[in-house]
Amino acid sequence: MAEELLIRGNDKQELYENLLPQVASLVAGESDLVANMANMAAALKQTFGFFWVGFYRVVGDQLVLAPFQGPIACSRIRYGKGVCGTAWKEARTVIVPDVDAFPGHIACSSASRSEIVVPIMREKQVIAVLDIDSDQLNSFDDTDQIYLERLVALL
Ligand code: SME
Repeated sequence: MAEELLIRGNDKQELYENLLPQVASLVAGESDLVANMANMAAALKQTFGFFWVGFYRVVGDQLVLAPFQGPIACSRIRYGKGVCGTAWKEARTVIVPDVDAFPGHIACSSASRSEIVVPIMREKQVIAVLDIDSDQLNSFDDTDQIYLERLVALL
């Protein structure tokens, strides 16, 4: 296992390109999903300084808070509710450039301004989501979607 992350890159794409193989080797040696979620959240927080980065797991008919980095957050989210519940219901990545413009957005923190939620699939079912919040508007784009989908595929 890597001792520490080597964070290198002049732009977002380079940072993701450097992060991917390091996270891949980190999770390759560990079979526990929660342990891997914890390290992935830490790696993303350390690399990009996101305001909040973490996971919610599907437990029955709700999403339940899982490993994260950042301020305390809502523990449970219902199917189809908020950005996370929408990504779960629609089984697709949801990018929200301005959370105030997303009907039903769940404000765990008033500092959150934009958000991306990426579903984690097992046998065509969503088993969890990765949620990242920024305290700036418009923080997420196709580059984040592409690399975050590749990252969660490692889980
Ligand atoms: N904003 C999310 C809730 C989770 S927190 O951002 C950590 C949503 O609308 O689903």
